[in-house]
Amino acid sequence: MSINIDKNPESDVLPERIRRFPFPFTAEQYRYSANVEPAHKTVETEAGAWGAGLIDIDEFYLQELADRDQILTRDPSRMQVLPHMRPAVWDALTAVLSSMAEDYPDTMSFHREGNTCRWQNTLQNLNIEFTAGDDDSLPGGPMRFLGSQIQDDIVLLDIREDTMWLDAGLVSFAADWSFSFDVGMNFLEIHGPVPRVKEENIVRRAEQFLMRLQPGEQFRRTNWTMTIGQRLDTSTETYPEWGPDRGTIATDPDLPDKLHLRVEVQHLIRLPHTGVVMFLIRSYLLSLTDIAKVPVWREKLGHVLAELPEDMAEYKGIIRYRKAASDWLLAS
Ligand code: HEM
Repeated sequence: MSINIDKNPESDVLPERIRRFPFPFTAEQYRYSANVEPAHKTVETEAGAWGAGLIDIDEFYLQELADRDQILTRDPSRMQVLPHMRPAVWDALTAVLSSMAEDYPDTMSFHREGNTCRWQNTLQNLNIEFTAGDDDSLPGGPMRFLGSQIQDDIVLLDIREDTMWLDAGLVSFAADWSFSFDVGMNFLEIHGPVPRVKEENIVRRAEQFLMRLQPGEQFRRTNWTMTIGQRLDTSTETYPEWGPDRGTIATDPDLPDKLHLRVEVQHLIRLPHTGVVMFLIRSYLLSLTDIAKVPVWREKLGHVLAELPEDMAEYKGIIRYRKAASDWLLAS
């Protein structure tokens, strides 16, 4: 006789997008906290697991990179590198490529001799040689190239005057903020619009923690919001394309398919050579219909949405439909 010890007997048949989803809630209510933990630790969920590696490549890899490419062509302001950050971009690129080669040895390899580097990525039929430090040796320069290899958005923060400054990055999939507006701001200014975190001293404590990271150290945290449609680019710049849906989704009969829980797995890494802090944001979307296939997720998200304080719901932009979403989840 075999005993089924699986927490969710259905998990064998769940699709990858659900099994690999980084469901962020451990309780039935959610508050902000300085939720930073060491990276590279597998987290088991009721449906599967996530978090073993740094760069996560999934079934949406090529599609998301194609979307990013189009976004950057339409709006080059999504990528910016202040001049003093050029060495940090190379630091970021070489650190990320060697980590990918380690995690995906069957499809990727990275070799470096002096400044001559060779990168192979068979998922893109790519075999390319470049010179670390020479911006002209890569198509579009090193930041654009890094953004063409990973699904994560990239932010680089310089440390000066006991503060972190957002001085470079490539962000195509911002969740309701504007990268180009934030370039040049410090950590406290960036978090200016977020309710509660200043009063609760969360931002200053997080910043102090990050500035004490040792070169090469890697941490991570999750963040979440909701997105209508299978859409990663919900930046301030494209608000007219996605903002109006917030007013109509509550009464839309397709709400369970259209409304997605959006989770960001954010990595925080002190780069080994320049000491700059690299912030990677990997965004995942899962529809309420899919969430409801995992009974514990359905209940937890239903309760979190119902209980979330007004100021947090307002900031996240979910205030007009969170009741409809939680009613559906808790009734289904
Ligand atoms: C070091 C790199 C980080 C960068 C570049 C960054 C950037 C941002 C940005 C741009 C926003 C959106 C602000 C807006 O609405 O305009 C945000 C939100 C937020 N950040 Fe950070 N952040 C970083 C790290 C952290 C850390 C370590 C914490 C830990 C407490 C944190 C906590 C938050 C919270 C609570 C929000 C609100 C999220 C929401 O409710 O959707 N951030 N961050």
